[in-house]
Amino acid sequence: MHNKIADILQKSVLSKNDLIILLSANKDNAEIIFNKAAEIKTKYIGNYTYFRGLIELSNICTRNCLYCGIRSGNKNAERYMISDEEVFNSVKYALDRHWGSVVIQSGERSDTAFIDKVEHILRQITQMCEKKPGITLSLGEQKTDTFKRWFDAGATRYLLRIESSNPDIFKKIHPQDKLHNLERRIENLYTLQKLGYITGTGVMIGLPFQTIEDLANDLLFMQKLDIDMIGMGPYIEHEDTPLYQYRDLLLPIEERYFLSLKMIAVLRILMKDVNIASSTALQAINPDGREEGIRVGANVIMPNITPVRYHKSYNLYKGKPDIPPETDNYIKILEKQIALAGDKVGYGDKGDPKHFFRRTVER
Ligand code: 5AD
Repeated sequence: MHNKIADILQKSVLSKNDLIILLSANKDNAEIIFNKAAEIKTKYIGNYTYFRGLIELSNICTRNCLYCGIRSGNKNAERYMISDEEVFNSVKYALDRHWGSVVIQSGERSDTAFIDKVEHILRQITQMCEKKPGITLSLGEQKTDTFKRWFDAGATRYLLRIESSNPDIFKKIHPQDKLHNLERRIENLYTLQKLGYITGTGVMIGLPFQTIEDLANDLLFMQKLDIDMIGMGPYIEHEDTPLYQYRDLLLPIEERYFLSLKMIAVLRILMKDVNIASSTALQAINPDGREEGIRVGANVIMPNITPVRYHKSYNLYKGKPDIPPETDNYIKILEKQIALAGDKVGYGDKGDPKHFFRRTVER
């Protein structure tokens, strides 16, 4: 097996079967894959980790995804929307520390008040900055016109996770209604690319019913879409969600974690110059999880700069509320760990994915 993996890592084109073999590697063999991913990262994008200040704008959501703790049907979630002023204070925190960019994430809404609010926030942030800042939105599916308005107001990147590229799994983890539709989600990704957004997607790893082959297909899906940035992480069950009933089908949490590290490394080997986030879900399983993600190929960390009093409410999965706030002290520790993982923090740089500037697929 050892040799087989070494042979695959020599190839310039990876087949689905190759990906399956890599994703199935045991602990010892995985180190060979992790080392290769680190080598590719150094060669194609350099040893920098970029911070994105993550602002969780609101947990009010019109969707009812069966895995997610802030689904509209969860009556136990205490809903909030942070004020514009709080957003600007958080942005200032990130800018004062020379982080290249911020991410605004929220439960999904497409009403006029929400669209206007986001547009206003974007214009204000752009005004606050001397240079055009990197602003990523992660606000779910929207109409083309909305994406365009937000782009014109200053957003540069958009992250819309596909969750799973397998239509059967997608159906099993979402309600059966018009709102939750895989094809439309993919259409949204094409629209974002056409509009000029640096476009990101991602999946959850270790979902019930998901196989290694599904994950290999997810990676090939990202490659086919020629995506610029990826945020993916382990699925972590939440007891207030319908998918919790399948918890006995899940891989043990450590294996979901290990599989997520392999997904990051294999994606780095497959797509080379994309941005890959080391997800908060990794950190929810292992306090050093994000740094480990960096060691195996990721190059983005999103410290949570949402005002602390809201943290407990943006509760997507078990363990998330227990993550410590990202104070300056905590960031110092994070920096040290990033250095141990072989990277420097890319201060003063937006850290746009190199891939975006040489995207091969014309839209
Ligand atoms: N476990 C892991 N990730 C989750 N997300 C939502 N619920 C969970 C969960 N239970 C992820 C989804 C979504 C992002 C905001 O959080 O991928 O797109």
